[in-house]
Amino acid sequence: MRFLTGLQPSGQLHIGNYFGAIKPAVELQEKGEGFYFIANYHAMTTMESAQALHDNTRALAVDFLACGLDPEKSVFFAQSAVPEVNELAWILSTVCPMGLLERCHSYKEKMARGFAASHALFAYPVLMAADILLYNSDAVPVGKDQKQHLEVTRDLAGKMNDAFGADLFKLPEPIISEVTAVVPGLDGQKMSKSYGNTLPIFGEEKAIRKLINKKVVTDATPLEDPKPTEGSIILALYKLFATPEQYQAMVDAHHAGGVGYGQFKKDLFEAYWEYFRTARERREWILAHPEYVDDVLNRGAEKAREEAQTTLARIRKAVGLGWQ
Ligand code: ADP
Ligand code: TRP
Repeated sequence: MRFLTGLQPSGQLHIGNYFGAIKPAVELQEKGEGFYFIANYHAMTTMESAQALHDNTRALAVDFLACGLDPEKSVFFAQSAVPEVNELAWILSTVCPMGLLERCHSYKEKMARGFAASHALFAYPVLMAADILLYNSDAVPVGKDQKQHLEVTRDLAGKMNDAFGADLFKLPEPIISEVTAVVPGLDGQKMSKSYGNTLPIFGEEKAIRKLINKKVVTDATPLEDPKPTEGSIILALYKLFATPEQYQAMVDAHHAGGVGYGQFKKDLFEAYWEYFRTARERREWILAHPEYVDDVLNRGAEKAREEAQTTLARIRKAVGLGWQ
């Protein structure tokens, strides 16, 4: 079983990324072979500078490794280390109806947020399909917002099979964890860097403490009164980090009253801080050994490229791109 997922290097990772994408990817390393990459071609569609793209790519490699990606078990690489993916994207785009892309939510959402309508932004799902199909992936762990892109991928794979041979591509399955399908942000909307409501995975202790204290939205129930558990952002976040017993104790304390939101926020911080302790320590080590990151990414690129070239040779032949 081969699992593949990509993460865009578009800024500081938050716990929505962790529970929606990173943790599932790390866990799947035990169940099969992981192909995990940094989607830097995709990030070009919204990146403000070359320097930012470069720095974020590096930072994401460090953070993903710190979160438990094991380069002995998974192939970890930068998308741009395998330029073959662009050729497959071109081939797929020849069977891709405009209407399919016009219906994509993420494109419409980016237009609504004021991004210029570039061809790359529009064709983004085709490149994503190429990422997935180039490496013969069986399953793709992603957050709920990427589900439609998986449908596009399956659609394009099906069209290619119809046009050029029934078993050219296998149809990949999305893996979407329902438990943590959507991690709420500090304001209760979906956590997203575009909403400015994120809790970073890695940050300074004092700053995060302050962030939780100031930004997690609560109601105005007085300290001594029972507090609503329904829709509580503190509880929803605490649940991600606490043991079931700790979580139940906080629910009980909400019902009983007599404990203020300040205390609950403190408990939330402590659970969060403990949860990422190992990852934080590993990150310190990785930051002190930049050559380790280079080595991992170089080895990953080599393996990924070999696989990509084999697939591409097969596809080129099937679609008639040879001339001898
Ligand atoms: P953002 O919304 O902050 O821009 P991305 O779109 O870059 O995050 O998402 C990267 C990965 O993290 C995707 O697989 C996405 O589904 C997942 N993800 C992002 N935010 C959340 C969230 N709040 N809950 C669950 N998964 C999320
Ligand atoms: N579009 C994904 C995101 O924004 C990133 C991505 C690019 C990806 N290519 C992929 C995810 C292939 C899974 C598989 O999160």
